[in-house]
This record gives sequence, structure tokens and C-alpha cells, in this order.
Amino acid sequence: MGEGPKKFTVPWLREAPQRGERLAMVTAYDYPAGRLADQAGVDLVLVGDSLAMVVLGHADTLSVTMEEMLHHVRATRRGVERALLVADMPFGSFHLGPDQAVANALRFVKEGGAQAVKIEGARIDVVRALVDAEIPVMAHLGLTPQSIHRFGGFKVQGRGAGAREALLAAATAVEEAGAFSLVLECIPTPLAREVSERLAIPTIGIGAGPHCDGQVLVLHDLLGVEQRIAPRFVRRYAELGRDAREAIAAFARDVRTGEFPSAGESFEDPDYPQATIERLYGA
Ligand code: KIV
Repeated sequence: MGEGPKKFTVPWLREAPQRGERLAMVTAYDYPAGRLADQAGVDLVLVGDSLAMVVLGHADTLSVTMEEMLHHVRATRRGVERALLVADMPFGSFHLGPDQAVANALRFVKEGGAQAVKIEGARIDVVRALVDAEIPVMAHLGLTPQSIHRFGGFKVQGRGAGAREALLAAATAVEEAGAFSLVLECIPTPLAREVSERLAIPTIGIGAGPHCDGQVLVLHDLLGVEQRIAPRFVRRYAELGRDAREAIAAFARDVRTGEFPSAGESFEDPDYPQATIERLYGA
């Protein structure tokens, strides 16, 4: 486990740039992934709406529902003890305005155990209402995947003078509205640097270069599980997709040849003590 506090809190994370510390965040969508990320010592675990793509198999993030997100936030919560757990507000869960946003975010906190929510886009009214309702907000600007129809696809944002100015203004506005951190996705490195220098709150980059105050990756990208897309900004730290395929193929081969199960993996003695069986299952 890395250095740092016993438990990561919003105030501690917000002050990270002032301490000169970089934040590491990964996504997770269930108990084992949450537990592994937590044990690995990341600062924040995000139950991202990327759930829609990397777990549920959709082509984009637009269709994932509050109920689906809540189900996965609850599961992830059971695995995360130390990192700050952030729930991503899915498309349509805050777009009707502050009242809808607060109602849905409260569900993430009360029913899911989330400690903060993430909001895509410069919805200043929503950020302010959530902060007023005591719900910490992580903002998210740049390539916000919930805006893909407006953007015309997954494209680098903040290019050109107008877009650059708009992003700088939006970043300042979400900070002033009370966000405790800001995800910057797929924007040019110099712009991410300018935002990071201008804001007091930490910026957490993905495809935004090395000058952010932290970095985030989607767990299935980092582990090499996601097969369909391989964005340029992803570094694969493992090839678990390949390893899993090989392991499953080995199991199937052993079943077909009769190699599995062996005597040691069977209960050959009809009087095998119940206590031993229970120990095997960890009861
Ligand atoms: O949903 C997600 O995984 C995200 C991260 C890429 C920041 O929003």
C-alpha cells in the first residue's frame, strides 16, 4: 500500500496539488475489482459510466441507467475501504436540472455508499446544487462521452482558440461552483497544463498529457481486458484478456481429455468429513 492517509477524504484529495502529490484513480465496477484497486493503494475508485461499454458491451455510454449504475456502485462499495469511492452520474440522470441531479446523487450516497459523484460537462447549476446538498462533486470536461452526438464522435476537444477559451472558462466555473476535482479527458497537453496551473483543485487527466495533478484509466484498458478499442492514451499494464482466454481454453482442454478433475480435486471418500468441506469453502 502506498503512503498517505488511512482513508482518502475529499479535503485530503482537494489539497493534493498544494502538497505536490499526484493522484491515481482507476475505474472499477464490482467487488473484486474494487478490492484489488483498493489493495493496490489508488487514491480514488470511480464507478464510471464506462460500465456501459467495458462491462455491459454497449457501443457508447448513453444507455446505462441509474439502476444499473447503482447496482455496480453497491458491489464496488463492498470492496473499497480506503480509496474515495466516486459514482458517475449517467446520461439523463442530471440533464433535467438540479432537482433531478440531487435526487439521483442522493441515491448514490444513501443506497450505494458513494462519497462523491462525477458530472460530465459544464453544468454549473447542477454542480452548485449538489455541493449545497453536501455531495462532493468531481467535474469532467473535454471529451465528455455523454456528448458524443454533439461532438460527432470520440474526438479530441479544446482545439482552436475558441474551444480553448471555453474550456478554461468552464474549468474556472466548476471550481468556483465548488467541485473538489476535475477530470480532463482528451484535450491537448498545453491546455491541460494551463488548466492545472490555473486551478487550485486537482485535475485528473485521461488523454490530457503529463501535467495534470493526477491520472485515471479505465481498469479494463489498463489490464488488457478491453478488446474492441485501444485509445492512444491507454497504457496496458497487463494482458489479462489474453491470460484469461488461455486459462479458459486450458480448462476446456482438461475437461475434454479427462485431466480435470483429479482425485485430489474430488471427494472420493464417502465419509469425507463435513468440517473439511466447509473449510474448503471458507465457511
Ligand atoms: O466513465 C469513465 O470511466 C470515466 C473516466 C474515463 C474518467 O468517465
